[in-house]
Amino acid sequence: MATDLPQVVYLGREPAPGMIQQLQTAVQVHHIIDITDIERQLAILGASVRGLVTSASVGAKAQWLQHLPKLESVSSFGVGVDALDLNYLQERGIQVGYTPDVLNDCVADLSLGLMLDVTRRISASDRYVREGSWAQAPAALRTQSSKKRVGLYGMGRIGQEIATRCEAFKMPIAYYSRSPKTQLPYQYLPSLTALAEWADILVVIVPATDTTQGSVNRQVLQALGPSGYLINVARGSVINEDDLLDSLEQQHIAGAGLDVFYNEPRINPRFFSLDNVVLSPHAGSATRETRQAMGDLTVQNLLQYFQTGRMITPFNEVG
Ligand code: 8YV
Repeated sequence: MATDLPQVVYLGREPAPGMIQQLQTAVQVHHIIDITDIERQLAILGASVRGLVTSASVGAKAQWLQHLPKLESVSSFGVGVDALDLNYLQERGIQVGYTPDVLNDCVADLSLGLMLDVTRRISASDRYVREGSWAQAPAALRTQSSKKRVGLYGMGRIGQEIATRCEAFKMPIAYYSRSPKTQLPYQYLPSLTALAEWADILVVIVPATDTTQGSVNRQVLQALGPSGYLINVARGSVINEDDLLDSLEQQHIAGAGLDVFYNEPRINPRFFSLDNVVLSPHAGSATRETRQAMGDLTVQNLLQYFQTGRMITPFNEVG
């Protein structure tokens, strides 16, 4: 009976509970939890597999997918598709699904949290109280958060949610992205450096692409300047991390709130000794509510593909 069902490979751990159980109502799932020898495991299952479930962190590499000659569909948990080999998937006509929108609020919430934390030094204050320093001397004065100029590098769906929240904090907003979004009430600046020069807080929320890779570099950080803060809730690869570490160590910028890193989760240990940085373990979407919504959409994308030939939220922007 089960052999009539579409064969699907599920890569990695379940990021939300019950995903495999839901899938099993309509497809046969082969779960590869440990992907260290993925190619061997895929080669064994290969011939019959029509669907793949993966995530923004596990991804889908061409060298893996070549073991799946009948693959038609890939459903990825996450909004970022940088870990999927999109050119290869497009060449083979494989439909790709992802999970936009359902995480916008949570990523925007965390962005504001990081902005408030780096300026008001909430995490640093917690350390100060715990280690008993408060009884020795009052803590140093902090920087006001509200009314700071926020420069958004990227003005997609999450960027717009961040901007809406910033408005409540009376923060003037400007942005730089591939093209101006004329329907929005925010100022568009013509370059990333111009944005960094203008901003008190530069928020990185662009997709990781060949164009954005390493784009937040020494020159941009210099433009942000010694009273400027950097927030990154996009991908570590968008930032030249050595340039950022140098800038933080030499206080060429005031501080940073970082949810993503170049080599996560094994991040550069130079970060650990810095007091002007707030470190978050890639947790923008990591609430029970949002992860459940992402898990449901990942599952429903695949199930709907097998029912109708089209996912609910296919990723179309290839190339
Ligand atoms: C994911 C993310 O939850 O959606 C994305 O692109 O970066 C996160 O929200 C995480 O990468 C899980 O794979």
